[in-house]
Amino acid sequence: MRRMAWISTVTVLWAGTLLAAIAGCDRGTSSSPTQAAGGGGDKVKIGFVVKDPTEPWFQNEWKFAQQAADEKGFELVKIGATDGNLALAAIDNLAAQGAKGLVICTPDTKLGPALQSKADENGLKLLSVDDQFMDADGKPMTDVHHVGISAKNIGKSVGTALAEQYKKRGWKPEETGLCVVTFDELETARERTNGATEELLSAGFPKDRVFKAPQKTNDVPGAFAAVDVLLTQQPSVKNWLVCGLNDNAVLGGVRALEQRGFKAANVCGIGINGTDCLDEFRKAEPTGFYASVLLTPRRHGYETAEMMHKWVTDGAEPPKITYTDGILITRETYEKIMKEQGLL
Ligand code: GLA
Repeated sequence: MRRMAWISTVTVLWAGTLLAAIAGCDRGTSSSPTQAAGGGGDKVKIGFVVKDPTEPWFQNEWKFAQQAADEKGFELVKIGATDGNLALAAIDNLAAQGAKGLVICTPDTKLGPALQSKADENGLKLLSVDDQFMDADGKPMTDVHHVGISAKNIGKSVGTALAEQYKKRGWKPEETGLCVVTFDELETARERTNGATEELLSAGFPKDRVFKAPQKTNDVPGAFAAVDVLLTQQPSVKNWLVCGLNDNAVLGGVRALEQRGFKAANVCGIGINGTDCLDEFRKAEPTGFYASVLLTPRRHGYETAEMMHKWVTDGAEPPKITYTDGILITRETYEKIMKEQGLL
């Protein structure tokens, strides 16, 4: 029952987002005095397109990009594009509004060449964020400017922390499993989960205790469904370590374990993002979601928008590639660390 209610909330949110995307988009500056007076037309317009506007990570990117817009005096046009057609339509929409550039986390990295041509045709400067475009051979499009996380290293830091917990908790190898919630079609996801797995193996975790749960969709329900299948296949595992591409992947895994009766003491999940797990850390009792690697949404939102603004106004081309890093947070440390990072 509870699960159904939660899925329908997500569906309603998603449907609302889709309608907003089709109907146009969130201008993002409706509260600015110039625009309220109807005179915002002379401001430089920059688009910020994200693949999942319901995910707190992307809401944070938008929030910080909006701060850059308010401080630097440009107009930010926020568009949620949950599939490839919407992403392509978003570029037309931005061009029709006279935007000069866009920052995008594409819903489908294979659309890279199509998105690049569309941006070029319309004279829009382009910066990809989070998910790097792929060319026709499945190779990263290094000619498109990009800001992304150092995915392999961040995955490794998840693996190191999981290995520490595995040892600290004294779990026996034959009773333990590593549940790797994978989303291999996305390069950054593959690097993260491979990094975590490699690090655990090099810390001595047995290879035959590693189990993959491939997500069909990159969200909480997708991870829940994938881990549910794995748990049916591996009924004898007593203790689970869980990793995945982001907080949602691990949250879905932890919810699937809870539904099968696993207690927090027998589950250790470590996510990535640090933005989507705060409700989890705020729960009165600890859950199996032990920690997350907090990324830098401010850099991915504020700095990317600022880079684009400088590029279109001063011709200052950003670096071709920028990698960002992360810090491990737990329910004990998150408040202090997030305050230090200016996130709380
Ligand atoms: C991908 C993930 C997001 C977030 C970003 C960080 O886009 O889907 O949840 O982790 O990478 O760059």
